[in-house]
Amino acid sequence: MAIDILLGLQWGDEGKGKIVDVLTPEYPVVARFQGGPNAGHSLEFNGIKHVLHTIPSGIFHNNCLNIVGNGVVIDPVIFKKETDALIALGVDPSLNLKISKKAHLILPTHRLLDAASEAAKGQAKIGSTLKGIGPTYMDKTGRNGLRVGDITRSDFQERYLFLVAKHLEMLANYGYEHKLHELEPAFFEGIENLKKFEHIDSEHTLNALAKSGKKILAEGAQGSMLDIDFGSYPFVTSSNTIAAGACTGLGIAPSQIGEVYGIFKAYCTRVGSGPFPTELDNETGEKIRQIGREFGATTGRPRRCGWIDLPALRYSIMLNGVTKLIMTKADVLSGFDILYACTAYKTAEGNTRDLPFDIHPEFVQPVYTEIPGWSEDLTGINSYEKLPQSLKSYIEFLERELEVPVAIVSVGPDRSQTIRR
Ligand code: GDP
Ligand code: IMO
Ligand code: MG
Repeated sequence: MAIDILLGLQWGDEGKGKIVDVLTPEYPVVARFQGGPNAGHSLEFNGIKHVLHTIPSGIFHNNCLNIVGNGVVIDPVIFKKETDALIALGVDPSLNLKISKKAHLILPTHRLLDAASEAAKGQAKIGSTLKGIGPTYMDKTGRNGLRVGDITRSDFQERYLFLVAKHLEMLANYGYEHKLHELEPAFFEGIENLKKFEHIDSEHTLNALAKSGKKILAEGAQGSMLDIDFGSYPFVTSSNTIAAGACTGLGIAPSQIGEVYGIFKAYCTRVGSGPFPTELDNETGEKIRQIGREFGATTGRPRRCGWIDLPALRYSIMLNGVTKLIMTKADVLSGFDILYACTAYKTAEGNTRDLPFDIHPEFVQPVYTEIPGWSEDLTGINSYEKLPQSLKSYIEFLERELEVPVAIVSVGPDRSQTIRR
């Protein structure tokens, strides 16, 4: 079983980028399996912060092969910006980054359709990142999409125009005004840039690597509560963010999966619309946002903050078969006298520890347990033993509630601020 998975258990931004970067020395291969530039994965070392959107978070390790899998959607414009930024730092991604021929392309018109759809929804909007994710996956499942493997075909231009004609009709139906012609030059520049990378049949590559005994880390994007099937629908993204998504998004069999690392914050955040039972729409939430610098890595939007939600975490752990937990951002909670953990939801049918069909505040109210806080600065601590007793008690409480061990505790954004147990 050569393939381990690391994925988010909440509503995204749990710290996946940082931890993938930390774990990469153990993995000669890192592969992204779904999502696209809606993701913003941050990692920090040597005092510099990097944000990746499409490129796997193993890219800063020369010996690591990074693969963008078939389940990912790629915007050539954003991909070019990412690769240019890496080149400016002296990292040449064309050496250790390969892209699945089956990954779908985000067209400028997909971005326009995303914006048009959100505008048409008004108050009911999803709060999408406006990166064209939904429309691109719709074209994938609608069997209209263009893939990376298509860009070297002689009739690519024709195929592009055929799909764009359909999109223009849809945009006209929305009554959405746009300047597509201004977006197209950057798109075709991005297509030329994409051609500089090796396009592979990544399912074959990954299975051959696994067979030869190479360890592979599959990097998830978003979080389980944003999964298209199991998240807080319709306020979700358009891909399967759970462990099953790694199988379809990379072409690997379930029997190949080893560890499933589930990552969560010591509290909880959500960006965009949709229900968030433990949200703190008050001073405490604002305090967490400021200390935790909870602003979107992709859109810069303020993230909504709240207490940890155990029914949601239990649900995610169940869906993913999590074998090891990773807790991030414990340092952000230093200085709170009392913390709260939602252990159950109160519903019309009584209390439940499971996640109901609808977690809108109309149907569920969080039931909280008080947790004694800690005041110590954690950011320089490098061993579990040295953590404050109340934090260790919090972690042990979570392990009892979640029935999975916490293997890693992150106490700051830098690579070095990582404690293994
Ligand atoms: P991702 O999308 O899951 O990769 O997470 P993001 O990068 O969007 O958001 C996580 C944010 O928290 C980033 O700014 C990270 O640099 C930062 N971060 C990660 N782990 C920690 C931690 O343990 N403590 C603190 N204070 N920040 C962290
Ligand atoms: P990472 O990988 C947090 C949210 C959006 C919106 C919903 C749908 O950095 O954790 P989409 O653009 O996918 O159609 O938006 O999902 N969302 C994220 N929230 N982190 C992300 O990625 C997200 N990617 C999408 O805010 O509510
Ligand atoms: Mg993020």
